Amino acid sequence: MLFSQEIIQWYYKNKRDLPWRDTTDPYIIWLSEIILQQTRVEQGLPYFNRFVTSYPTVRDFAQATEDEILRLWQGLGYYSRARNMHKAARTVMQVYEGIFPKHYATLINLPGIGEYTAAAIASFAANEPKAVLDGNVFRVLARYFGVNEAINTGKGKKLFSNLATEMLDKANASIYNQAVMEFGALQCKPQSPSCDICPIRIDCYAFRENKVNFLPVKLKGKVSRDRYFYYFIIRDENGIVMQKRGPKDIWENMYEFPLIECPNAMELEQLKDTAIFQQLFGVDCELEIVSTPKKHVLSHQNIYASFIEIKNLGHLKEKKKVWNYVFIKDLNTLAKPKLIFTFLRDHNICNN
Ligand code: ADE
Repeated sequence: MLFSQEIIQWYYKNKRDLPWRDTTDPYIIWLSEIILQQTRVEQGLPYFNRFVTSYPTVRDFAQATEDEILRLWQGLGYYSRARNMHKAARTVMQVYEGIFPKHYATLINLPGIGEYTAAAIASFAANEPKAVLDGNVFRVLARYFGVNEAINTGKGKKLFSNLATEMLDKANASIYNQAVMEFGALQCKPQSPSCDICPIRIDCYAFRENKVNFLPVKLKGKVSRDRYFYYFIIRDENGIVMQKRGPKDIWENMYEFPLIECPNAMELEQLKDTAIFQQLFGVDCELEIVSTPKKHVLSHQNIYASFIEIKNLGHLKEKKKVWNYVFIKDLNTLAKPKLIFTFLRDHNICNN
């Protein structure tokens, strides 16, 4: 049997029942695909449901503010995706009269839509014969066909893109694309794939040659930069001091606690001796570390975060005028990085 037919047959037997598979509405598919680029299906589902409920149409999405979109996206990371979605929705309203495009050539020009997303929407919404190529598809193709070329080089991408197009069942692009991704997600998994029950293992290069754990090949990217964030918790029973992050860095426009960033790890006493600390908080602070340090891994950065409470607030009265004191009951309206809302949740300050 053809590779595509095997995969489709497997899909009918094993597919998950997921809400975005019941629709051909390109707007709904777009929501699901952008969310799923960010996270696994189980974690993405509640976000998808919240977005569909809050913004049932692209018009509703476009009419929201960027802050509202960011707030709903909170926890998914990579917040520029949410900002691009907002731009795309506004473009659909202005240029396409609120009708979300469903063809590849149009989709590819919308903000935040790349080759993968355009192929996914066009095939799922209009059965357009465009092959999707995501991490799942790279892995399935690399293993089954024994492709040793790295997936993250120009040459490798071209090679895999041609192979994906060759394998596509052009009359059934929608089903085939869903099927090959689902096969990668559930069967041909990155770690411990279920080769013992795989229906195509006889023809699989990696299985035959015992190369399953060595394919696909990926070249090492650039090394991550380490950043040390010292967050200061300044609170009373009703509220807490927050600040909004600026542009040109991670978490643009999102809310966090007052922060001192250092290029290296610091002891508390060292930190207290720095000019920046004394300028912000004076010299009379009683500090208490209120959480174990957290490591937060981003695509090219490791954030090491410490949370330090300032216990004696009396001497900070003057500072109150410049700080952004937020009532606890209003914290849930602010978009916060995961690191921050996890802290607030774990310390029973705010649930979301
Ligand atoms: N991952 C990316 N797109 C997906 C989809 N449509 N269904 C399940 N997992 C996915």
